Amino acid sequence: MRVLVTGAAGFIGSTLTDRLLSLGHSVVGVDNFSTGQPEFLEGARANPNFVLREQDLLDLDALVEAAAGVDLVVHFAANADVRFGPDHPRRDLEQNIIVTWNVLEAMRRNGVKRIAFSSTGSVYGEAAVIPTPEDAPFPVQTSLYGASKISAEGLITAYSESFQMEAFVFRFVSILGERYTHGHVLDFYKKLQADPGRLPVLGNGTQRKSYLYVQDCVDAILLTLEKAKDRVNIFNLGTNEYCQVKDSIGWITAHLGVTPELEFGQGDRGWIGDNPFIFLDTEKVRAFGWAPKLTIQQAVIKTVEYLQATPWVAARR
Ligand SMILES: NC(=O)c1ccc[n+]([C@@H]2O[C@H](COP(=O)([O-])OP(=O)(O)OC[C@H]3O[C@@H](n4cnc5c(N)ncnc54)[C@H](O)[C@@H]3O)[C@@H](O)[C@H]2O)c1
Repeated sequence: MRVLVTGAAGFIGSTLTDRLLSLGHSVVGVDNFSTGQPEFLEGARANPNFVLREQDLLDLDALVEAAAGVDLVVHFAANADVRFGPDHPRRDLEQNIIVTWNVLEAMRRNGVKRIAFSSTGSVYGEAAVIPTPEDAPFPVQTSLYGASKISAEGLITAYSESFQMEAFVFRFVSILGERYTHGHVLDFYKKLQADPGRLPVLGNGTQRKSYLYVQDCVDAILLTLEKAKDRVNIFNLGTNEYCQVKDSIGWITAHLGVTPELEFGQGDRGWIGDNPFIFLDTEKVRAFGWAPKLTIQQAVIKTVEYLQATPWVAARR
């Protein structure tokens, strides 16, 4: 296959790019390095089956060129930040909705028929049904990020119906592992580097969240691309467990050998749009025989080990 990966220099996009290359596929990687890191593409760039196109996905003409002759588009580029959404009300619209429309248009104009999209468990808002299945009652949105992702899903499924495309929509929980550059483990790690004696926590630490290791996420995506046969295929990806923020703090501090004083905030939402309980029903993807290899605790520790071994990440992000 010839695969176009948007966000190829990102945390998850670069991991999937490496895997596709190792399976013998060729990859056209598009990235503007807004949050992507050149180091993540070092292996890919040494592979003759990889082409990097440094461009902004808001440039439709350049994207139409990049999508020529492609069999599958993996659309992973986005503004992946939930917390700072209200500081930049236009960002999710541009980076997550308009960019997705550009990707779909570039596909339509080139006759590309398959798209895989990284959506999020955030689209379920504060779900009434937990664990939340893919067909949960349509929720009220609580973050600009979630709203932009559900809008992008809407465009993808409508394009799929209108132009006979096959769509694979993956709603992930938070992802952990090598090349992690944003999220609570990095926040805590950086705060503890600055002062191992105290740790300010957003919210009261009782938020319950599910997490998934990045290689398990990539395994699930590749298996679903092979096995799912509908025109629109929507899959939750996550582990069969959740933890409290407090649990994660315990694992991180024990691993680092520090005992900071914990300074909790008020309430069970750390920021506007934070969801106090995210736990997805993943029976649909498990029916293909997939199961995550790492527990949440193992994935948290692997992430801390990665940050320790790769100090430039915490220094740069
Ligand atoms: N990391 C998670 O926990 C998580 C959870 C749920 C969903 N997702 C989704 O998965 C996808 C990948 O997330 P990630 O954690 O790897 O994020 P990331 O920020 O590491 O990767 C996004 C990549 O897209 C690139 N990009 C962004 N806007 C671009 C533009 N206009 N033109 C070209 N390139 C652009 C960035 O430079 C970056 O390399 C995103 O769509 C995100 O919303 C991530």
